[in-house]
Amino acid sequence: MNPIESMLHLIGNTPMLRITGFDTGPCELFMKLENRNPGGSISDRGARAMIEAAESEGWISPGDTLIEATTGNTGVGLALVAARKGYALVLVVPESVNPDKVLQLRAMGADVRMARSDVDLDHPAHYVSIARRLADELPGSRYLDQQANPANARAHEEGTAPEMWEQMQRDMDAFVCGAGSGATISGCARFFRKVNAAVEIVLADPEGSVYASAVEGAGHVPGPGSSLVEDIGGRSVPRNLDLDLINSTYTVSDVEASTAIRQLLMLEGILGGISTGVHLAAALEYCRMQSTPKRVVSLVCDSGYRVLSTAYDESWLLDRGLVPRKAHGDLRDLITHRADDGGVVSVSPEDTLLSAYTRIRMFDVSQLPVLEGGRIVGLIDESDLLLAVYDNRKYFDYPVRDFMITRLEKVDPNASISSLLPVFRGDHVAIIADDSRFYGLVTQVDLIDHLRKTMQDTSDTDRDLNHA
Ligand SMILES: Cc1ncc(COP(=O)(O)O)c(C=O)c1O
Repeated sequence: MNPIESMLHLIGNTPMLRITGFDTGPCELFMKLENRNPGGSISDRGARAMIEAAESEGWISPGDTLIEATTGNTGVGLALVAARKGYALVLVVPESVNPDKVLQLRAMGADVRMARSDVDLDHPAHYVSIARRLADELPGSRYLDQQANPANARAHEEGTAPEMWEQMQRDMDAFVCGAGSGATISGCARFFRKVNAAVEIVLADPEGSVYASAVEGAGHVPGPGSSLVEDIGGRSVPRNLDLDLINSTYTVSDVEASTAIRQLLMLEGILGGISTGVHLAAALEYCRMQSTPKRVVSLVCDSGYRVLSTAYDESWLLDRGLVPRKAHGDLRDLITHRADDGGVVSVSPEDTLLSAYTRIRMFDVSQLPVLEGGRIVGLIDESDLLLAVYDNRKYFDYPVRDFMITRLEKVDPNASISSLLPVFRGDHVAIIADDSRFYGLVTQVDLIDHLRKTMQDTSDTDRDLNHA
């Protein structure tokens, strides 16, 4: 392989993988690895195409400022292309986006402006409205408008879909695809209509998006919202999404999407992002519903590196009810990091203070239980650490045993919720343990979370535990 001249040459020409580890019913399933684009998602294609089309139309030239409203991936693609070609870039992103994306965009040189995420498209504080306004205000600036820009869909009609068609030896029956701006699914569908109109176009839509109901002719009916998916789905249909090209739809929940990507990693060794989970879950469902063999193609449209601490983290998912968790009907249900799920973050008495400090930082907790043989023998918190190392840094290398608190106030898992209050009034954390075992810690925030979750169920706090 010869050296390449620019990262931009690495956009597109992505590999196609045959999926072998999953039950695909009578079908064969293939996934195009769009996570292999240099920006880590399929959106690199549209980003490059929009900038190059604007250049060839004489609409922009190096030195201009490009503006876009984005939930992140198109922004990454634009930042990559803009920096190589000498454009300034202003990105307006809703404040709900994954903070790692914002860090990446800023590190790539983009001027990132945050906007409210709780308002609809027609609101002046919506990120799209702000981007449009900025383009009017900033001299020499251009709004790229991925939602309506025809070059975005053309990137897929002329790039993604022809690549797929050749990789499948011109033999495929269905394409399962999500839609953000709609450019990918519409562009690919236009190509397939030309080469083989029988290729079925299947929309994979996350819960809470109105696209699936709009295709089904049920109007724009938002369901309960997804808390994980950022890049696909939407609450109003964008210009690039041509509903007439779509034959059928599957709606995918957060649970299904996060389960699908964790299985994809285990079974195929691919670290996909949460939008990939929506694609895969819908594609598997489609495959299993068929009564005749079909060759089905879908996308690994994004990388999972940014969601390792969310969609791939068992305790994060457990905490949000996105993987089933055993309910005990007692105080154990309030614990975020449970020992019986293997989720507890702890140290042993022989670990050093430096290890304790590293774990506190890594897991973003304020204290750690000190465990020996499954039983709690101490507790070490930030102030114990600080007081220990303030006078003498060498204590970082000393064992936790020398600095931990050993006078522990334990609360039996069968105690009532109200028995936590005296512990919290003393500004302590509740240690849920019985004579033989440690179950986990309950903090004041854990109790607030529990009260919020059970808000609708009861006005009597102790009533939602079975025993009380
Ligand atoms: C992860 C991911 N998947 C899919 C898409 C496809 O979206 P669109 O409909 O905008 O082409 C995007 C676009 O941002 C994306 O980031």
